[in-house]
Amino acid sequence: MSPAERTVAVIVVAAGSGVRLGHQLPKAFVHLAGQTLLERAVSTLAGISEPVQVVVVAPAGREESAHAIARSALGASASPVTIVTGGVTRHESVIEGLSALESGITTVLVHDAARCLTPVEVFDRVIADVRRTGHGVVPGVRVSDAIKVVSGDLLEGGTLMSTIERDTMLAVQTPQGFPRKALEAAYAAAESVAYTDDAGVFSGAGMVVHTCPGDERSLKITTPADLARAQALVLGVDGSRVRVGTATDTHAFAESRGLRLAGLDWPDEFALAGHSDGDAVAHAIVDALLIAAGLGDIGGMVGVDDPKYAGASGEVFVREAVRRLAESGFTPVNVTAQIVGNRPRLAGRRAEAERVLSSWVGAPVTLSATTTDGLGLTGEGRGISVVATALVELFAPTSN
Ligand code: CTP
Ligand code: MG
Repeated sequence: MSPAERTVAVIVVAAGSGVRLGHQLPKAFVHLAGQTLLERAVSTLAGISEPVQVVVVAPAGREESAHAIARSALGASASPVTIVTGGVTRHESVIEGLSALESGITTVLVHDAARCLTPVEVFDRVIADVRRTGHGVVPGVRVSDAIKVVSGDLLEGGTLMSTIERDTMLAVQTPQGFPRKALEAAYAAAESVAYTDDAGVFSGAGMVVHTCPGDERSLKITTPADLARAQALVLGVDGSRVRVGTATDTHAFAESRGLRLAGLDWPDEFALAGHSDGDAVAHAIVDALLIAAGLGDIGGMVGVDDPKYAGASGEVFVREAVRRLAESGFTPVNVTAQIVGNRPRLAGRRAEAERVLSSWVGAPVTLSATTTDGLGLTGEGRGISVVATALVELFAPTSN
């Protein structure tokens, strides 16, 4: 679809700093179960029933990283990404987003990156309703608590003044959709920046906003408790925070002596062939850690044929994998590896190897070894296979 044919844009406002979340990163760059809020918000847009212009409003200084995240989140989708720098308030950020719209856009949706779990059906519904009615459209959900007006301090000894009829209340969410020209006019006319959402700006300018069904998953991640709630939603009802990964690595023996295995030197044993140091235990551990966290494998991580990794120590790969896990919010719990081969004899050096590997992983690594009754390449003494299992856990969502 060419720019002239594309008529819908989604502005994802992601420029806030997330003061109430209290994380060291801006909120849109904080991880939720292994993916940033921005990545989750944008990847949903790839599922909208037509290509849309995606405008990401990013915090100053993070435009490039926002672009990389958004592009990869959209995958093979035909939707183009435009990045703009945000303003001091959400209101100003939306104005920046509006300034970047392609000329053919006639329908604009504004969406909070903080509502990164909104399902794609809501986007399709809002787009359809804006087109059908020619008015603004805001998704919302019913309120289940009783709502009171309070005078004085809300929580500390305030006085109840009145009850608001709950059946007239709607908790509104995003994406909020509008005819483009009307939304631009409403923002141009908005005198104050005190509006907290786009529907407020639009109806403040005297224009009609209709409602449509929102979704419970569209919760706005504001506080650490919200992040924990979102994490439980993503991981399923039990909110399991642990993941397991299994991987194998096999190397043939080389002609020369000087083996590196399980983080140790074995000078009298035949070396393992390989571009790096050939430490099959380290490599299997790397793959098990990465796959447990859903981060691919060692080839995707470092490009194993890369000249800069010629002869590289297994330690480099293991530490890099652990660093990538941490970036995605995961920490290793424990790792096991089983060496399958006739040689070397692990028994005398098991504790030493476990100490070294544990220090690289930052969690207990335990090792075993076995033979295969003379069968296969390991049994015939032509090489070594390693099977590794890693258990990883998501950080507590409040940690930095
Ligand atoms: N937002 C923005 N630019 C701003 C402020 C907010 O783009 N100057 C975006 C946020 O990134 C978020 C959405 O508007 O996706 C809703 O704002 P909110 O949840 O309040 O996020 P923050 O302002 O980042 O959080 P806090 O108010 O706790 O600092
Ligand atoms: Mg805010």
